[in-house]
Amino acid sequence: MLLDLYIYPHPVLSRVADPVDAFDEALSKLVADMTETMYEGCGVGLAAPQIGVSRQIFIVDTSAESEQPSLRAYINPKIILKDSPVVWNEGCLSLPGLYRDVHSFGHVVIEAQDVHGEVFREEAHELRAVAILHEYGHLQGHVFLDRLSPIKQRLARKFWAKNSRREAQKLYGETALHCVFTDAPERT
Ligand code: NI
Repeated sequence: MLLDLYIYPHPVLSRVADPVDAFDEALSKLVADMTETMYEGCGVGLAAPQIGVSRQIFIVDTSAESEQPSLRAYINPKIILKDSPVVWNEGCLSLPGLYRDVHSFGHVVIEAQDVHGEVFREEAHELRAVAILHEYGHLQGHVFLDRLSPIKQRLARKFWAKNSRREAQKLYGETALHCVFTDAPERT
């Protein structure tokens, strides 16, 4: 089932997400629905706050670039290590059509739980490392704009305040995705 996408600056995107404690059917279903939603939006990652759920869950699939199936869900994740600074042109399904060069890291070690609660550790590089850190940021209430310089942030936010609806329509108008804008309530 496709889920509604919460568009920046909806307040759910600025909140620290709560940990997941129930590894049940509802969680598996949510992750499956998030996956369908991410593919419909052609994203390489999606975090639960972006579908209005303030929980520590995100998914990443960078296989289009690596050509290996790489879909994975990360629940209650912790960043164990990040190094190799990079500048990356990032975008976000909650800021459709907006891309900016921002600082990130090209090497990450992350520990998280899967949908069954099993703990795993992953070492990631390049796009996958950047995508993991981007989604992890969502769980801390951050978006990639927060990593721009103050002046560039001000410009980007000003642009977004004026154009978010138009950009969302441009990017998602042809898809089955629905957008939730700032004034709408979040899911419970
Ligand atoms: Ni994002």
